[in-house]
Amino acid sequence: QALYEMPGKLIPWYRKNKRDLPWRKDPTPYHIWISEIMLQQTRVEVVKAYYKRFLEKLPTIESLAEAKEEELLKLWEGLGYYSRVRNMQKASLQILREYQGEFPHDYKELQKLKGVGSYTAGAIASLAFHLPYPAVDGNVLRVLSRVLMLEDEINMPATKKKMEELLKPVVPQNAASDFNQGLIELGAIVCLPNGEPKCQECPLNTLCKAYIRDEISSYPKKGKKEK
Ligand code: ADE
Ligand code: SF4
Repeated sequence: QALYEMPGKLIPWYRKNKRDLPWRKDPTPYHIWISEIMLQQTRVEVVKAYYKRFLEKLPTIESLAEAKEEELLKLWEGLGYYSRVRNMQKASLQILREYQGEFPHDYKELQKLKGVGSYTAGAIASLAFHLPYPAVDGNVLRVLSRVLMLEDEINMPATKKKMEELLKPVVPQNAASDFNQGLIELGAIVCLPNGEPKCQECPLNTLCKAYIRDEISSYPKKGKKEK
């Protein structure tokens, strides 16, 4: 199956082509968490500056837990969705009170933190703790939808769940971080949305079903709401 051939192609490609992004320098769970929450609704180029400023002001879980609301809102101003930063503060209090100030090293426990769903939990588990769990966001879904010629509509929550289950056994034990970041990176710089993927330079082009059958424009399938 195409899925199991992905790591061998994707990981070397990622190591050679990854962008130099601030949250890739020192991937602690706190750093990964902040960056992934910011990146959920905001573009990489915008997040860079916010990320740096946030960590200068609030470098630790403790400092985030103790921050005044006014300061939080100022650090988040322009990113929108203020519930994200409010949830982060609640989660930091959870970590202090229930986890002795340390992020739990466990995919399921991570999802008990306020605002942390399966994607963010997978990102923290794999990028910070090197645990073999998938991190499936919209970009990753798009890539996989094309590689597998997936008929499921990618904006359905059940589709994401299904992909997480399919990917779980595929994430390499010894390279979970580079594999997951490789998928994220491929979706961001090669397997672009709309009709514009750069398939000629894609490391997966020998196993991508949609490319092989020349049907890229039909994938991903989307529901009625979002065309
Ligand atoms: N988008 C979401 N997560 C990302 C990451 N870790 N690096 C780059 N882009 C991303
Ligand atoms: Fe995406 Fe093209 Fe690569 Fe397939 S070959 S994964 S469509 S960029």
